[in-house]
Amino acid sequence: MTDDVLIQNGRIVTAVDDYVADLLVRDGQIEAIARHIDPSPTMQVHDASGLLVLPGGIDVHTHMEFDLGDAQTVDTYETGTRAAAFGGTTTILDFALQGHGQSPKHALDQRLALAEPQACVDFGFHVILTDINPGSLSELPDLINADGVSSFKMFMAYPGVLMVSDGDIFRSMRAVGAHGGMINLHAENGEVIQVLIEEALAQGNTSPKFHALTRPRIMEAEATHRAIRLAELAEVPVYMVHLSAKEALDSVVEARDRGIPAFAETCPHYLFLSIEDYDRPGFEAAKYVMTPPLREHECQHALWRGLRFDDLQIVSTDHCPFCFNENPHGLNKSKQMGLGNFERIPNGAPGVEFRLPLLFDGGVNQGRLTLNRFVQLTSTAPAKMFGMFPRKGAIAVGSDADLVLFDPNQPQTLSASTHHSLVDYTLYEGFHLLGKVAKVFLRGQMIVNGDEWLGQAGMGRYQRRAASGRIL
Ligand code: URP
Ligand code: ZN
Ligand code: ZN
Repeated sequence: MTDDVLIQNGRIVTAVDDYVADLLVRDGQIEAIARHIDPSPTMQVHDASGLLVLPGGIDVHTHMEFDLGDAQTVDTYETGTRAAAFGGTTTILDFALQGHGQSPKHALDQRLALAEPQACVDFGFHVILTDINPGSLSELPDLINADGVSSFKMFMAYPGVLMVSDGDIFRSMRAVGAHGGMINLHAENGEVIQVLIEEALAQGNTSPKFHALTRPRIMEAEATHRAIRLAELAEVPVYMVHLSAKEALDSVVEARDRGIPAFAETCPHYLFLSIEDYDRPGFEAAKYVMTPPLREHECQHALWRGLRFDDLQIVSTDHCPFCFNENPHGLNKSKQMGLGNFERIPNGAPGVEFRLPLLFDGGVNQGRLTLNRFVQLTSTAPAKMFGMFPRKGAIAVGSDADLVLFDPNQPQTLSASTHHSLVDYTLYEGFHLLGKVAKVFLRGQMIVNGDEWLGQAGMGRYQRRAASGRIL
């Protein structure tokens, strides 16, 4: 039993509400919200005057300790979730990758054992399916209903590594859809992209910019359209991860207009950065090598518009932190692997700590998003989409007291020299933003107070989730 927590005079902002009130937390949950709640001597009291009180952020796309064989992301579950907390994220959904010949359930159990003692915020997993056969498909009902994994990711890209065939995607979709699950897809036409990569390298085009030039927007659009059509036939909700191209968004919009349960997320890097970042001098552009690549400015405009009008439902980070220089796993596992050959640059970029402040400043302060929509995109929709609402994603009596006190008037400058991830760079170096996380509570316990870390490794709890993709 912990002390009650009283948060006074905060401006409580949810996906629909906006009012000033006091909020009482008891045993990790929200106990009461009222215009005034009398403090008692046993309460821990926080004055939130002038601050926004937001439901804790939920980032549904992270890659902690992601092992791609010759490259591994540098954040552990401990360092990555602590960085998430400093940025106002109190729940992450990461990935359990089924290896070839491995059972999906075994992949989940391994990840759980790795994450549980380390996690500083609540967490869950999507299972990545790579080896689809009668045995692995037979495990899906139990994974969904007993283990609470209601979303499964597959790759239409990275042939020979992670890519699965359309037939296997379709088989998995049917099995997952029949039991309340949702399919997440990395949508790019992997085989065609491979042809373009081989052509580029044969012509001596080895620099990081060719990562972008060999992954054209229409190959993302083609795969997005194909994925949605397969899902339509299989009768399963489908969620497009890290959508970047205007043409891919058009496919999602077309399907949604027809009433198909097709959903999509985008990521801050597609909103704030562009293909021009690959023109940075030397090997600097390797920092921006993620998949899909950064796109032209017209895509940024389309994505902001999509966020505003619910064509896109969620902003996640795809936090995939490969070091630029030498890292604790050795030089050969950093971005430097790709010097002289863009195909060898580990694909992925960090961002878990900056999602809320970036979206607040670029969205709310710039008049692109309302405050309510900002909360919807960063917390409430993720909770609903992935079976965690109303325990998460809400400020309501009975919900987990995952709360962010956010100062809308506090300026900050983003930098790798002050961020909390182990990675040695940020895509947003020197960005000046207005709005900063002041305090973070995980189930009622204050874990961040300004620059101070008050949480512990292992305090994050595994989230068994209900059905995904059903209740938006
Ligand atoms: O480049 C990326 N996005 N790396 C992480 C793996 C993925 O495709 O999501
Ligand atoms: Zn992906
Ligand atoms: Zn990813």
